[in-house]
Amino acid sequence: MRVLSGIQPTGRFHWGNYFGAIRQYIALQNEDEAYYFIANLHALTTIRERDVLRRNTLEAAMDLLALGLDPQKATLFVQSDVPEVSELSWILMTITSRGRLERCHAFKEKKSKGLPADMGLFTYPVLMAADILAYDSNWVPVGEDQVQHIEVCRDLAKAFNHRYGEAFVVPEARLLPHAARVPGTDGEKMSKSYNNTIEVFEDVKAMRKKVMRIETDSRPMEEPKAPEGDHLFQLCSLFVDAEKRESLADLYRRGGFGYGQVKKMLADEAESFFAAAREKRAELEAHPERVTEILADGATRARRKARAVLDRVQEACGL
Ligand code: TYM
Repeated sequence: MRVLSGIQPTGRFHWGNYFGAIRQYIALQNEDEAYYFIANLHALTTIRERDVLRRNTLEAAMDLLALGLDPQKATLFVQSDVPEVSELSWILMTITSRGRLERCHAFKEKKSKGLPADMGLFTYPVLMAADILAYDSNWVPVGEDQVQHIEVCRDLAKAFNHRYGEAFVVPEARLLPHAARVPGTDGEKMSKSYNNTIEVFEDVKAMRKKVMRIETDSRPMEEPKAPEGDHLFQLCSLFVDAEKRESLADLYRRGGFGYGQVKKMLADEAESFFAAAREKRAELEAHPERVTEILADGATRARRKARAVLDRVQEACGL
């Protein structure tokens, strides 16, 4: 079984990316053949400064490696290093109906907010389908927000196969645990576009400050509180084991505590949780050439696979 997933280099990774996706990518590298890539072509729809995009792409690779992605086990590469994907994207575009893309939420959301939506954003799910189909992927581990896009990919693969014969493997989404959503500092889904993120490799002091500023209600200390549905509790749960989680839940139900105390615990847990990765990150930062080498090697492997799939597809449709 081949697993594939991508992540955009839109800035430093936040807790939502880590608990929602990256942690599972790392776990899956031990079980399956895994392909992970940094989606810089997708990021091009939002990042317009050359140096920022380039820097973010390298940083994303360092972050993934520091967090435990092992290039001996998984193939790690940059999306644009496999140009076959862009050609495949065009081929898929010719069988994609406009209405199907108009119903996709990422596009609908931007449009409803009156934000400029270019063709890159509009056709984003088609490029994503190409990413997946180019490597004969079976499983695509993603968070809930990406499931609709995987559906588009499945539909396109089936439509192509129906017209031209079985050229594509039809993939399945694998919804990740926690994938529902990691809340941000305001309780909404943690997301860069909501400005409510806490970054994995953020300076420790800045991280602690953000944690202390997590929004909470103003009920008096004594009042018992339901842990379920409380975003501060949900965030704490990400970092602690079942036992600690239960005693925190008890504390909530009993009442008689201050949110400040819980926030301090969260900051301490988060700091130690990422301490080893932080050290590894500093090491990689000092040797960016090692990272570039890993990415080049990953691209070679990924490209070989994509080339074979593209040959098959070109043959099927008469190119
Ligand atoms: P991206 O970069 O927005 O997010 C990467 C992964 O992180 C998950 N995620 C979250 N999960 C839980 N809670 C949150 N607050 C949270 N925020 C982000 C996302 O669900 C996702 O799995 N289009 C994709 C990148 C992509 C891709 C692909 C993925 C491009 N091509 C092919 C899979 C297959 C994206 O923008 O993810």
